[in-house]
Amino acid sequence: MSEWFETLNGLHDRMWQRLSRGVADHKSPSRQPTLATVRDGWPEARTIVLRAADRDTATLEVYTDLQSDKIASLRDAPRGALHVWEDKKRLQIRLQCAVTILTSDTVRDRWDRMPDTGRLSYGVTPQPGAPLTDALAYDKAPDFERFAVLRCAIQTIDLVHLGDDHRRAAFTRADGWQGQWLSP
Ligand SMILES: Cc1cc2nc3c(=O)[nH]c(=O)nc-3n(C[C@H](O)[C@H](O)[C@H](O)COP(=O)(O)O)c2cc1C
Repeated sequence: MSEWFETLNGLHDRMWQRLSRGVADHKSPSRQPTLATVRDGWPEARTIVLRAADRDTATLEVYTDLQSDKIASLRDAPRGALHVWEDKKRLQIRLQCAVTILTSDTVRDRWDRMPDTGRLSYGVTPQPGAPLTDALAYDKAPDFERFAVLRCAIQTIDLVHLGDDHRRAAFTRADGWQGQWLSP
C-alpha cells in the first residue's frame, strides 16, 4: 500500500479532502487561505475564510464586501491565487483561479444561512480602506447589497509535499486534472 503523497491521485484527493475540511472546521489550516489578486501590476495578498469547496466543478467560494479594494482589482483582472500550508500534512496547496463576483439574488441563499454576527462583516461605514480620524471611527451594520461571493473556478493546482522526500505535482483543468510530477 502506497502513502497518499506517493501518487498523483493520492495527492489530488488529499487536497480536496483538506479544502473540504477547511470549510467545515474553524481550526483547519485550509479554513483561512491567503487570496492574492493583482492591481496595476502589484500583487495583493490577504487572509480570507474558505466558505465552500466543490470538487465536481473544482470551484471554491469566498465571501467579501462589495466595496472592498479586492473587488476593484478583480473587476480589472478577474483572476486570483489561493495559498494554503497544511502544516501537519506537510502539504502546500497553490491554486490559480478565474474569479466571478456574485451578488444580489444569486447569493441570497448564503446570506440567509449566515448568522447576524457574520453579516456584520458586510456593510462597514465608511467603506473598507477609507481613512479614519480615529481607529474606531466606523460603524458596522449588515447590508445585503454589500455582500459578494467570489466564485473561484480553479484552473491550475500546484501541490508540494515535504516528507522525507520532496514531491511536487501540477494539475490543470485543461487536462482533466490528470496530473504531472514536477521537479520540486
Ligand atoms: C483571519 C482573517 C479572516 C479574514 N476573512 C476574510 C474574508 O473571508 N473575506 C474578506 O473579504 N476579508 C477577510 N479578512 C480581511 C482581509 O484579510 C482584508 O483585510 C480585507 O478583506 C481588505 O482587503 P482588500 O483591501 O484587499 O480588499 C480576513 C482577515 C483575517 C485576519
